Parts: sequence; structure tokens; C-alpha cells
Amino acid sequence: MKRMDELKIDGKRVLCRVDFNVPLDDEGKITDDSRITGALPTIRKAVDKKAKVILMSHMGRPDGKPDDKFSLSPVAERLEKLLEKKVKLAPDCIGEDVKKMVSEMNAGDVLLLENLRFHPGEKKNSDDFAKELAALCDVYINDAFAVCHRAHASVSAITKHVSEAGAGLLLQKELDYFEKAMADPKRPLVAIIGGAKVSSKLKALENMLSHVNKIIIGGAMANTFLKKKGISVGSSKVEDDLLDSAGSVMEKAEKAGIDFYLPTDFVVAQKMEKSAETKTVSAQEIPDGWMALDIGPETTKEYDKALADAKTIIWNGPMGVFEMEPFSRGTLSLVKTVANADALSIVGGGDTDTAVHMSGQADKIDFISTGGGAFLTLMEGKPLPGVAALDGVGKG
Ligand code: 3PG
Repeated sequence: MKRMDELKIDGKRVLCRVDFNVPLDDEGKITDDSRITGALPTIRKAVDKKAKVILMSHMGRPDGKPDDKFSLSPVAERLEKLLEKKVKLAPDCIGEDVKKMVSEMNAGDVLLLENLRFHPGEKKNSDDFAKELAALCDVYINDAFAVCHRAHASVSAITKHVSEAGAGLLLQKELDYFEKAMADPKRPLVAIIGGAKVSSKLKALENMLSHVNKIIIGGAMANTFLKKKGISVGSSKVEDDLLDSAGSVMEKAEKAGIDFYLPTDFVVAQKMEKSAETKTVSAQEIPDGWMALDIGPETTKEYDKALADAKTIIWNGPMGVFEMEPFSRGTLSLVKTVANADALSIVGGGDTDTAVHMSGQADKIDFISTGGGAFLTLMEGKPLPGVAALDGVGKG
């Protein structure tokens, strides 16, 4: 896979796949622009090289046809402000109007194509659709790490129809950080894995067992592990069908000499509501009808201790329902610990990113991935279709 520096883009038509799938509030305003700011170095570099910069992205999950709700228009506005430069929004991503707009571009211009998912061919990884996109450019750059786990036309099929292609600066940085943490990490390497479900993290957990020295578990997924250990977890969410898988993960960890940390106390409530009455109890004492919604202070102490000697930390998934004030302490406190650890810290996944930003400690984390599903795919040890496709360019 070529790095951006190896590509000849001077004065060329450069088609850059970015992931501008940003969260919007009810009024359509962007609530987190980190995916846009993340792509700025690549865009600026291409502009500096006097390329004609054509950007393409998806937004949300429209049904393969145009839908104003999913227009990239708020993104074009925000990008224009961030770049301090005119950004035109094309009415579509393929077709005669788009070709004309591209033919009229001057060196250093930036054009954003409309949502790729307004065409069914994008998600179908259609060759015909990919060919139409490829025809817009001389050079293709993929800078959309966050969608590289999808074999979609603009990240996968397109690479068969371009002669010059490579990774943008953000994609490269994402892969480089992950590689640094996993391939030859400074040890101890600690994985913090949280979130609601064991089912969505099982493959990541299994893969991490071959890499890490310690695993710290949090979020509702901890309940399934505790139940497997014979601890009653009250009305907390448990995935009963995964009790055996949870047991096998713990067994493998023990055999491999990996320290496996589970919460020892919790903040519990009868309802998952902001105003709910809460109690802090040990893991063995969750009353019937109450559920664990955050890790407790004892667990925080133990997790802080486990992280004290960490040299590399990879974190995906919160410790509790941090979006609600009574259940946010455990996750936010852990952010502080990770941020201040004398370790390379890498955080990924939408919820974890939100928690890190909420805590005001984002600047102290070494790398916050822009990927949710893509980051998890890397943690699972699986190849990313978008990266595999780039690797294949020029190899026939
Ligand atoms: C994401 O937000 O994870 C990416 O933009 C991919 O979006 P998708 O899950 O709708 O494919």
C-alpha cells in the first residue's frame, strides 16, 4: 500500500474517500466534527500540491436513494469553515453534472460529492458504480479508516479501476498506531474492553488473548463473566447463551498467564434513569431487582492499580452507562487514569471517544481512533477490506 508521500498528486485530479459520517442533532447540526478535522491534513496537503481535490463520503444509512436528511450539506459548510476555503457541494456523486463540475475545477479547488449511499451500488460494492467514481480522477486516496471494514464500492471495488492509489495521512496514522500497540508493544500491554454486550466483543477478546498481558472488563458485559463465576448479578443484563464462551475466555486467559480483571463492586439502580435511586454494593451483593450500571469505587482502585505499570493501553467500550450522570463516574475516572498513565494509550469506538471528550482529557490520550466498527475489526485481528483493496493496487 502506497503512502500519500509516494503518490504523484501535483496538479492531478485526486479523489479522496473520507468518512464524514458525523453525528447530527435533531436540527441537523454536527455534534462532533472529529472525523472532519481528522481528514484535514490529507486535504490540506493535496491542496498545497495544487491537486484538484474531490472528496467523497457516505452519511448515515439512506436506502440507496437520495434523501435530504442524509445530505452532506452540513459537512460542506463545516469543512469550508475549517479549511478557510470554498468547498463546493456537488448535487450527486456520479453523473454528467458531477463530471462537468470536476472538469471546471482549478488547481487547489475542493469539491465534496454528495452522499455515496444515495446509490445502491455503493453498499453492493458494484463495479459499474466504482468505475463511474474512478473516472473522475487520476489518483485515488483512501483516508476513510472508519469505513474500511466495509467492502463498499468507494473503498473496495474502486481500487480495480484506478492506476495510482494509496492511503491518506489519517488512514496511515490509524494503522500505524494500531500496529505500534499490537505488533511489538512496550509491555505490559493492557486491553480495556467494556460496553454492553459480550457478543459484540467476543472475537476481539479472543484475539486480544494472544497479545496482551492484562485484560480489564467493564460495562454490562462484565455481568456475563460474573454470572459464569457463580456470582448472582440481580436484574443486570446477562447474555445467558454466552456463559460458556465467557468461561472459555477466562480459562484461556488463566492458561496464558493473562491477568483478567472483573469489577468487584458496582453502582446499582432499579431503573436505568437519570433520577433513579442508586446504591454502591459489592459484586456479591447486588439485590434482586437491581442492576449494575457502573463500576464502583473499589473496582476503580483495582483497575488503577492494574494500569499503574502499563506501557501500552488499548481501550474499547465504556465501564457503565456514562451518558447518565449517576453512572458516569467509573468511566470518566478511568479516562483520567488512562490519560495520565505513562503508557502509549489508544482509544477507539464511538462511545469510548465520547466519554474521553466528555472528561476533558482527550489531549492526553496518545491516539483517539476515528473508527468504531473498523477499530473493533482490527482488535479482532481481521483484515480491513478497504486496506486489503489498497494493498492489491498495481498487483494485477
Ligand atoms: C461508522 O460510523 O462506523 C462508519 O462510518 C461506517 O458506517 P456504517 O456502520 O453505517 O457502515
